[in-house]
Amino acid sequence: MTKDTATIRNNATGKESEFSLQHGTVGTPAIDIGSLNKELGVFTFDHGFMSTASCKSAITYIDGENGVLLYRGYPIEQLAKNSTFVEVAYLLMNGELPKAPELASFKSEIRQHSMIHEALRVFFNGFHYDAHPMSMMVGVMGSLSAFYHGELDMNDPEHRRNSAMRMLAKVTTIAAASYRHSVGWPFIYPRLDLGYCENFLNMMFSLPGQNYIDQSNYIDPVAVKALNLLFILHADHEQNASTSTVRLASSTGANPYACVAAGISALWGPAHGGANEAVLSMLAEIGTVDRIPEYIAKAKDKNDPFRLMGFGHRVYKNFDPRATITRDTCYEVLEKFPSEDPLFELALALEEVALKDEYFIEKKLYPNVDFYSGIIYKALKIPEDMFTVMFVIARTAGWVSHWMEMMSEPGQRIGRPRQIYTGYGARDYTEADKR
Ligand code: CMC
Repeated sequence: MTKDTATIRNNATGKESEFSLQHGTVGTPAIDIGSLNKELGVFTFDHGFMSTASCKSAITYIDGENGVLLYRGYPIEQLAKNSTFVEVAYLLMNGELPKAPELASFKSEIRQHSMIHEALRVFFNGFHYDAHPMSMMVGVMGSLSAFYHGELDMNDPEHRRNSAMRMLAKVTTIAAASYRHSVGWPFIYPRLDLGYCENFLNMMFSLPGQNYIDQSNYIDPVAVKALNLLFILHADHEQNASTSTVRLASSTGANPYACVAAGISALWGPAHGGANEAVLSMLAEIGTVDRIPEYIAKAKDKNDPFRLMGFGHRVYKNFDPRATITRDTCYEVLEKFPSEDPLFELALALEEVALKDEYFIEKKLYPNVDFYSGIIYKALKIPEDMFTVMFVIARTAGWVSHWMEMMSEPGQRIGRPRQIYTGYGARDYTEADKR
């Protein structure tokens, strides 16, 4: 028996076997149980993947106990302070920060890919005016597979990189078009002379004959800085539900645009990326500070499905480092773009009450990144139903990085979990069953 193994014994049969430990560069080791069924005749059951690593990855590291988040080794706080989103996207995709010429060519490639095929624009007409922008994101991102399929060789790294660049570049164009369709405004073409965030804001808000960028409110560096920052914070988060969805779909060899559309679907839920929109709805429902105790009681009531949105995280159990940064950014953004709506004050008061409450302390529930991100987006005049779309823009950098990493690994296997079957055993089909 070596130190670098774990022994598992099946008491039902008395059989036991040794399994090797797999070590990452840092972090908790994992028992490699790939041969468990063959050796001991059992599966493992891990509802919600509480203790299961699904892959090896060199992109992002999280230490949930200590509130550490690293992209390619760099702490999120340092990236948030010193980088732009485009630099971070390069880092995630390529493993290193870009040198000046690399960044220049990366930016130029993004610009060139930012247009969408004119035929794709027509797809939007199929959506009803009140379709949620996230439903358009799922549909239109998935539809890119109809444009980029036949010639795509997924075994060719250059083809893979091209697909990733297209998604990173086009996601802002599709996002802005989803918004403009929902309000019935004409689409605005991407401008090749603008940076990533400026271009997105321009496509979102400019009016015919009047570029958004010319309206002082939005060329404001505070707005662009805040957008860059939120995109950086949301860019990747290792094997979260949406990234795992992209990986699982990709493991079948499916078209990457369709796989990322699957990731967008997974992100939409309020337990994941939909939380930023849900936080604002919750704050609006609470309305005033005096109603906070009522909602705290609801959140603690096992018979009430209400949860404090923007609180809790599967991995972070002391604090979410992204929440600390968004909280600080709220002060900066609201100072520049003051809101009549006292949402931030309400959020601060709610946070204070929850953090002192025994239930939240005992269950280690702290504000997560999305407790404050919606307040910032609202101050930047991004409509609430676009909040999760903003998350999609940022997380596309992570999804395509994971897709490229996964597709470049030799010996890929289809992702195929097992189950504990709880239905009927085999039974005979009889005519009487239909009567
Ligand atoms: N309000 C009230 N109770 C909560 C909350 C909450 N927000 N979150 C967890 N709990 C309770 C939960 O009821 C459970 O209690 P018990 O042990 O008595 O059954 C316990 O805490 C553990 O919760 P869990 O659901 O088993 O934890 P999880 O790791 O499966 O879920 C979570 C994590 C983020 C889905 C959950 O905390 C949640 O639903 N939070 C609100 C939604 C939210 O803000 N999501 C955004 C996550 S950050 C952005 C992203 O990365 O997507």
